[in-house]
Amino acid sequence: MKMQGTEGNKGNDRKPTEFPHFLHFLYFRWTWILLAALVLLLAIGAVFWNESHQPWQTWIARYDVQPNSTPMPIQIQALVPTQTGKPELCVTCHVGIKDISASHPAQAFGCVVCHGGEPLALDKDRAHSTMRGGRNPSDLSVATQSCGQSNCHGGYADEEQNHVDRVLKSMQATYAGGIAHVRFSFGAQNSPIAQFGIRAVNDTSNLRPPKALPSLSMYSTSAPTGTIDAKMSSCLNGGCHLWTKPSQPQVYTYRSSGCAACHYVYADDGVYRGNDPTIPNNEPGHGVAHQLTTAIPFSQCDHCHNRSNYNLKSMAFDWREDLPPMARPLSSLMPPEGRRLIEYYQPIADFTKCEYELNCVDCHTAQEAMGDGHIYGSKKDAQHIQCQTCHGTLTTMPKITSIVDANELAMRQARINGHPEFLKVGDQVITTERGELLWSIKQTAPNKFVQVDKVTGQIYNVPLVKGSGCTQDGKTQTSDYCHTCHSVVR
Ligand code: HEC
Ligand code: HEC
Ligand code: HEC
Ligand code: HEC
Ligand code: HEC
Ligand code: HEC
Ligand code: HEC
Repeated sequence: MKMQGTEGNKGNDRKPTEFPHFLHFLYFRWTWILLAALVLLLAIGAVFWNESHQPWQTWIARYDVQPNSTPMPIQIQALVPTQTGKPELCVTCHVGIKDISASHPAQAFGCVVCHGGEPLALDKDRAHSTMRGGRNPSDLSVATQSCGQSNCHGGYADEEQNHVDRVLKSMQATYAGGIAHVRFSFGAQNSPIAQFGIRAVNDTSNLRPPKALPSLSMYSTSAPTGTIDAKMSSCLNGGCHLWTKPSQPQVYTYRSSGCAACHYVYADDGVYRGNDPTIPNNEPGHGVAHQLTTAIPFSQCDHCHNRSNYNLKSMAFDWREDLPPMARPLSSLMPPEGRRLIEYYQPIADFTKCEYELNCVDCHTAQEAMGDGHIYGSKKDAQHIQCQTCHGTLTTMPKITSIVDANELAMRQARINGHPEFLKVGDQVITTERGELLWSIKQTAPNKFVQVDKVTGQIYNVPLVKGSGCTQDGKTQTSDYCHTCHSVVR
């Protein structure tokens, strides 16, 4: 048999490669082709074998045995979201997951538009390999790519709708006030004006409100040890702002980061109570359901606010000792009646009844919570709702504005919150000093205002100062002054 391959080596200095006789067949090209084909076939076979033995079947089986599930056949589920038209197989394993919200139904959005990931993979690691932000696509490191896509929550001419840009500049993300306060108190900067944020931010708008700052630099995480900056870095990395989750989460502090820190509710004990079999329901550290909401309960805000006090010596948090012990389930330790007051009410602080009865978002609006798109260096510059916003004063009524358009923000907010029946075009609603409409408080008679609780749906009458027996001096409108006569004593 003549060996084709050796001919090419004629005239070459190098000795022709000497192949053992039994390997001579390798010199035939068609043998190579056959071999390659065989390897390919084997690989395809392996993939098929692999896929048909993947745990996806186990997840459906596990879902099916849950007491409150409608059993599903053990077969691949393809979801073809109407917005993309491209099939996604995520729900094969994530069977039983809830639509994330009425505004983002899975039928229209699917999963990949938010989470990223490999839509056609049935292998967990491959499916997850290209996900954005790990578990949380709204983490601020990726929120611009996921939530902030144009026509979602970014890219609008109307700045109000660019929620991601707003939140990135908000104080809850920059922590500018906290950083400036501590650095100034310890002499690390000689002016109380904020210079730093957790990340650098710029306000490029031409019209800036008088108290807003043009920019903040990124707070250094590599400060020399022993300095106040080094101490504070470790505290800030522990997660008291929107950029991170708490580093040592415990009962009362379980929460996510980014938009999810407010809009994706975690129970105080951090336990998942939904039906997706892949999400463990026996370990803390998960949201209570796969759900985004604007009906944000007070407890969610409290997972950052009100859980602890800054210890300025150790730069650590002193947990509140008056709360029931850090154990689960909380419900057995804290009766539902009175729980609201106990949880909200710090022994060191004063509150009026409405402050603990209503939820935080009933008073603190979208512009306060998510920012107004400008950068502030102090809570007192950003926070502007006052007691008089709702109650008026001895001589003034609350400010009001008419709803003119069925699609204006206040109407959309009422719908998103699940209370479309509360507002209609022509209604008069209370308005803040910065012109934001409080969609949840409308006038029903010349001296009568009613408010719907955004979380519980309960309806309240808002009592007015004007015409009441209130003995305030009328000039002072800060809450600590009102508290001198109106605080709730526990
Ligand atoms: C083969 C089954 C399977 C497929 C397919 C699958 N997942 Fe998962 N997924 C899981 C399991 C199991 C977990 C629980 C965490 C773990 O075991 O890694 C999980 C966890 C997750 C998490 C939480 C991650 C975390 O770090 O907590 C997200 C988000 C997620 N999956 C999204 C997706 C998306 C989006 C797709 C489609 C692109 C998808 N999954 C496809 C099985 C799957
Ligand atoms: C509108 C955006 C959005 C869509 C659409 C969406 N998710 Fe999520 N999902 C989120 C957010 C935000 C979280 C963050 C939860 C957190 O950080 O605790 C999340 C969390 C998860 C988790 C982890 C839950 C946990 O506690 O471990 C899984 C699993 C998951 N999503 C799967 C899916 C699947 C499957 C789909 C499609 C049916 C989907 N998601 C659609 C936004 C979305
Ligand atoms: C991730 C932690 C976190 C969560 C969750 C959180 N906050 Fe904050 N909040 C902060 C930080 C940090 C600041 C700014 C502190 C500073 O720099 O002085 C802040 C400041 C504020 C301020 C004063 C400044 C302003 O922008 O008006 C209000 C009001 C406020 N938060 C309300 C809320 C409400 C209401 C919720 C729930 C819907 C909430 N917060 C949830 C961390 C959080
Ligand atoms: C600190 C808490 C907090 C964070 C963080 C937060 N939101 Fe909000 N969000 C609110 C509050 C409060 C409202 C107002 C709810 C209402 O009045 O009905 C709101 C309302 C909304 C609305 C309804 C429309 C509107 O403008 O009021 C959207 C959409 C929204 N948020 C998106 C986001 C996105 C996207 C992110 C992340 C980039 C985010 N939110 C982060 C608290 C928060
Ligand atoms: C009944 C309305 C109301 C409710 C409910 C309410 N607040 Fe406030 N909050 C106010 C008012 C008004 C102020 C301004 C105080 C002043 O004028 O002196 C304020 C001030 C604040 C401030 C800034 C003050 C500072 O410097 O620390 C934060 C932060 C805050 N509230 C967070 C919350 C959180 C978190 C919740 C829910 C647990 C909540 N509030 C519930 C009305 C309310
Ligand atoms: C967003 C609107 C809103 C804001 C802001 C607000 N309240 Fe109220 N307030 C209410 C509502 C609603 C009630 C009625 C509660 C009820 O009937 O149980 C109420 C009731 C009251 C009452 C009568 C109940 C009582 O305590 O006997 C007083 C006094 C009062 N508020 C003081 C304050 C003070 C002080 C502040 C500022 C810290 C404040 N309110 C901020 C909505 C508000
Ligand atoms: C010096 C004590 C005092 C101070 C300070 C004070 N109030 Fe009053 N307020 C009263 C008294 C007394 C009444 C009448 C109570 C009654 O009729 O039962 C009252 C009534 C009210 C009512 C009507 C309650 C109802 O149920 O009809 C509201 C609202 C109210 N005050 C709000 C405020 C606010 C907001 C502040 C701070 C700007 C404030 N008050 C400061 C003493 C005070």
